[in-house]
Amino acid sequence: MIKSPMTVLQGKTIALGITGSIAAFKAAELASALTQAGAMVDVIMTEAAQRFISPVTLRAITHRQVATDMWEVPAKFEIEHISLAEAAKVLLIAPATANTIAKLAGGLADDLLSTTALATKAPMVIAPAMNDDMYAHPATQQNIARLKERGVLFVEPSFGRLASGKIGQGRLAKLEEIIGTLSAVLGREGELAGWKVVITAGGTREPLDPVRYLGNRSSGKMGYALVEAARDRGARVILISASDRPAPAGVAVVRVETASQMQVAVAEAVMGADVLIMAAAVADYQAKEVAAQKKKKTDETQYLELKRTPDILQGARGHFVRVGFAAESEDLIANARHKLDEKELDLVIANDITEFGSGFETDTNHVTMISRDGGMEALPLLTKREVADRVLDAIMRLARLRGKKKNHGEGLE
Ligand code: PMT
Repeated sequence: MIKSPMTVLQGKTIALGITGSIAAFKAAELASALTQAGAMVDVIMTEAAQRFISPVTLRAITHRQVATDMWEVPAKFEIEHISLAEAAKVLLIAPATANTIAKLAGGLADDLLSTTALATKAPMVIAPAMNDDMYAHPATQQNIARLKERGVLFVEPSFGRLASGKIGQGRLAKLEEIIGTLSAVLGREGELAGWKVVITAGGTREPLDPVRYLGNRSSGKMGYALVEAARDRGARVILISASDRPAPAGVAVVRVETASQMQVAVAEAVMGADVLIMAAAVADYQAKEVAAQKKKKTDETQYLELKRTPDILQGARGHFVRVGFAAESEDLIANARHKLDEKELDLVIANDITEFGSGFETDTNHVTMISRDGGMEALPLLTKREVADRVLDAIMRLARLRGKKKNHGEGLE
């Protein structure tokens, strides 16, 4: 049976401020996603927000009281804004209008949301949504800069069609991006806080000519799941991506295309790292010569001369935990063990790519973890996020065995 992933949101109290933007209706979806992830969502709505969406909707979604009025005698809280401010692990304001951002920057406290914002010690995440000219206005940008100086995190609005009909920057960011930023904030105190984790993802592409390339079916899903799981445990994550997927919020990303580019990026990123996980499907061969112009078709049979690409994992050495994946279509365990020995890895994740629901492009994966010390753990079919969490558990066990202490960018001690 596939269980839903246990995320950093589970059991956390999140104060969700909703302000008077046309995007307020999207806050319902956001509240729903957070609630489904196991968070307790305390919604605080400004008066203007209630003109766009009813508190009843949010109450039904979160199964909790929705706070709307500072002067109403609260059913549960003694001084409502103080209770909300103290209970919150994070204050998220989405969507945030220019007006609310200005109030917060100026330290005003004239409604329940701005009072809570002033009273809370919890980190604050703001996702603005407004007309593009209002967003670009120097007053708004200065207010945002002031709040950033105070440590407030912003999830930038995206470009697209606005309520006015214009195309511009002002749409509420995608929910995944908002939730990703929230997860990164909540994960800060996690068990990987202080660790630097480098993860590769996606399939490399080796050019043949300006049009064609040698590639593979890797989507990057497995690597990205590892990135999110490490981020949610508080790690500083560097993602080296050969996939087109947008990077998860809160992580540094280096985009690469070829194995050689990935090798350079990995060599740089592993300096001071604690863990390297190579989930990328790296091409083993590249064209001996890349044609400068598009190859014309002829009636002749064509032959491609290939040469080896660098073995990145083999060459990436240091005082960090080295983890490889072995994508196998036969003799899974024997082949994975061979890679563990050959590349002198600490851990190899043997990945059965023939089974339905496992391997490339799927949302689930079936793997067996084999460690250098001889340990072997066969996992059932799980979501890639669950596999990622189990891989991180195994890495932490290995690191503990090696006497890892909390580190500050010096690699394993
Ligand atoms: O991206 P998805 O669609 O989610 O699919 C996930 C996946 C199937 C790609 C992933 O789970 C996986 O198995 N990745 C490793 C694929 C692979 O290239 O395996 P390999 O057996 O060829 O390589 C072994 C290890 O050496 C890998 O960690 C690989 O990153 C690394 N390698 C390989 C070749 C090379 N030139 N340099 C390397 O560093």
